[in-house]
Amino acid sequence: MPQLRDQVVVVTGASSGLGWHLACGLARRGARVVLSARRGLRLAQLAAQITDAGGPAPLVVPADVGEWTQVEELGRRVESEWGGAQVLINNAGRGAYGRLEELPFSTVEELVSTNLLGTVYCTRAFLPQMLRQGRGHLVFISSVLGELPAAEHALYCATKFALNGLAESLDCELQSRGVGVTLVEPGLVETEFAQVSARPAGRFGRLPAKAAPAVAERILRAVERGQFRLVPDELGWMGICFKRHFPRTARLFLRAAFRRVLRQPQKT
Ligand SMILES: NC(=O)c1ccc[n+]([C@@H]2O[C@H](COP(=O)([O-])OP(=O)(O)OC[C@H]3O[C@@H](n4cnc5c(N)ncnc54)[C@H](OP(=O)(O)O)[C@@H]3O)[C@@H](O)[C@H]2O)c1
Repeated sequence: MPQLRDQVVVVTGASSGLGWHLACGLARRGARVVLSARRGLRLAQLAAQITDAGGPAPLVVPADVGEWTQVEELGRRVESEWGGAQVLINNAGRGAYGRLEELPFSTVEELVSTNLLGTVYCTRAFLPQMLRQGRGHLVFISSVLGELPAAEHALYCATKFALNGLAESLDCELQSRGVGVTLVEPGLVETEFAQVSARPAGRFGRLPAKAAPAVAERILRAVERGQFRLVPDELGWMGICFKRHFPRTARLFLRAAFRRVLRQPQKT
């Protein structure tokens, strides 16, 4: 059960949204935060905000999680400068909205490389440090779409379903070796995510979105409790329970619901 004060915690995707607020929450708890993402300027701004508020100075290491050499360097710097990480929050991720047959391969490759390969690379970089220390904690930011299918999000769903398999399997593998796992499945959260995914306004737009600071706080509390699964979204949790217990009815319901959504004209 990790207490976060004085722990070295790596946050990927810290330059905006959930990652930004996770880093702020960690700093408030006295954790030594490693900030990573591609936009170094944003990370520097966040580091300044944290130190101005009296938090411990973060280590800033810009990296693209989809590039093993950059992730390996991130791991090396955390080990050499701070002696290794105790917690890794695999948060970096992006969406891609659209029908599978229409998505450009560049988007397909970027999505798989960020959401799936990036998570595997980061875990590979930091897990050996944790195993050497005999303790550690891995956090996987998946999505309710890691359990629920969604039209026009097939590839995103595929990467998040894969993350759930990774997290559940690692939980079995690492439980007896001192490394815990938390799998987080958020519903809609107010961040830059929708713009990056290029989802047209009006599509799924009426679903309620949670505020990122509140979701980040729930995630950190789940990590402190050593909780395995967190679904910080009531509607999403109801949908997941419904699908688990009534899979056939859920499939019929989802087909009908998405038929209606897909008939709506798209507003850009
Ligand atoms: N917002 C939602 O509704 C929602 C719902 C469920 C799950 N999630 C998940 O929550 C996580 C955080 O998303 P968010 O909502 O906070 O979105 P966001 O504001 O767009 O943040 C995404 C973060 O990931 C980073 N990132 C993207 N590609 C990267 C790469 N190749 N290498 C390193 N960093 C990369 C971005 O930084 P740079 O661009 O600077 O690299 C950014 O910091 C994602 O895994 C997402 O799938 C979000």
